[in-house]
Amino acid sequence: MKISIGSDHAGLPLKQEIVKHLKDEDYEINDFGTFTEKSCDYPDYALKVAEDIKNGNSDLGILVCGTGIGISIAANKVPGIRAALCSDTFSAHACREHNNANILALGQRVVGVGVALDIVDIFLKTKFQGGRHEKRLNKVAEIEAKYSK
Ligand code: RB5
Repeated sequence: MKISIGSDHAGLPLKQEIVKHLKDEDYEINDFGTFTEKSCDYPDYALKVAEDIKNGNSDLGILVCGTGIGISIAANKVPGIRAALCSDTFSAHACREHNNANILALGQRVVGVGVALDIVDIFLKTKFQGGRHEKRLNKVAEIEAKYSK
């Protein structure tokens, strides 16, 4: 499985921990940065990761900023992207099973490394259930289509 990952400066330390963890687990990784502590803008990294998923280059994505809020809002502007901000393992499980989330967003200032890595593991290993959830996601896609030019 190929994983696309990105963060702003506020999410960099957690991104580095996640990259190390995923390498240890033998995942293939597309790391879009940021790579330094210099202040930068989270939408730039949200877009890189979201487009990588959208273009089929990666299977799932992970985004980190200070709260996870800004970077998930930005990623969700790309049609077809379902970015889920998770701070607990139950949500990580549910966002894959029910919402077929294709990007996990995390807040470096919100969750500790241990919880974050558990969230990552559950997100990557849980499968979409389909069925009644598919119908609801089709409705989400209809809303997206209605407001896309
Ligand atoms: C950067 O200071 C911070 O605003 C950003 O990482 C994120 O938390 C925004 O939602």
